[in-house]
Amino acid sequence: MTADGRGAAGDWRAEFEALAAGARRALEEVLPGPDVPPARIHEAMRYSALAGGKLLRPVLVMAAARCVGGPEAVTPAVRRAAAAVELVHTYSLIHDDLPAMDDDAMRRGQPANHVVFGEAMAILAGDALLTLAFEVLAGLPRWGADPAVALAVAEELARAAGTAGLIGGQVDDLDAVQGAPLDLARLQSIHRRKTGALFRACVRMGARLAGAGEGELEALTAYATAFGEAFQIVDDILDVTGDEAELGKPVGSDARRGKVTVPGLVGLERARRLAAEATERAVASLDPLGDRAALLAWLARSLLERRR
Ligand code: IPE
Ligand code: IPE
Ligand code: MG
Ligand code: MG
Ligand code: MG
Repeated sequence: MTADGRGAAGDWRAEFEALAAGARRALEEVLPGPDVPPARIHEAMRYSALAGGKLLRPVLVMAAARCVGGPEAVTPAVRRAAAAVELVHTYSLIHDDLPAMDDDAMRRGQPANHVVFGEAMAILAGDALLTLAFEVLAGLPRWGADPAVALAVAEELARAAGTAGLIGGQVDDLDAVQGAPLDLARLQSIHRRKTGALFRACVRMGARLAGAGEGELEALTAYATAFGEAFQIVDDILDVTGDEAELGKPVGSDARRGKVTVPGLVGLERARRLAAEATERAVASLDPLGDRAALLAWLARSLLERRR
């Protein structure tokens, strides 16, 4: 802890909550109201997007901006970019839960979107969230962002969400079932894309909007890559050891689907070690950024203790 009392876990937790509250407000701003026709789809979009996810990705966007440019760098444009990432993430969860994918009935502590609204509406709600994300990014110049930076930020998110990133990872994840010839390196390559790509986009988007230079972008990208690795290992561990009520989604889903996971491949103990190592790598990547990156370091370390 530093002399001014910063650095205590409680302070960072409060900081996280403040940024998450900003993300929630931005989501409320960009999502169509529940009564706007056709009301059913707007209800379905809002149902999942405002359901009480951890908002880790939007917080990362804002924390990266703050790391580069200080508190004033968390502008309305940054908050809207953060909301756009959460829209993409929420779409990916709605589709991930569909019967054709992981076939899970619970998400964010409530029945999955397709359980409540039906498969057709869940597909469309996912599509609509993804589309809305890019509408929001295209509008960033109206919120003060430099148009060239807004374009670069949209490209970051599109690339992370596309076949080189999240979708590509999800494609290979479908084949990652027991019996498939899959080693740890291959599984990690799936994780880097299905999960890591979006985390990388988060820090790069926030940093770019705050005017980051190449060195800062490089350090933050290395951080988010290791962060994503640790995050998905812990997600796989929680699928074995988690508590359903706390987690807000089914436990044992991977086993039921016969998914290859990190704890499945190397055991729980080594999986925990790998997550801890990736976390330390994430924190070490922040060295060039100094004290400005303390919140990001705390965020990475908090992954290891997360229960949801
Ligand atoms: C779940 O992400 C999907 C994965 C990439 C493992 P989160 O655990 O961040 O889900 P929410 O947003 O808090 O619901
Ligand atoms: C999903 O990974 C990653 C996405 C891109 C949605 P999982 O299938 O392990 O995520 P959960 O456990 O359902 O949240
Ligand atoms: Mg999945
Ligand atoms: Mg799943
Ligand atoms: Mg999982």
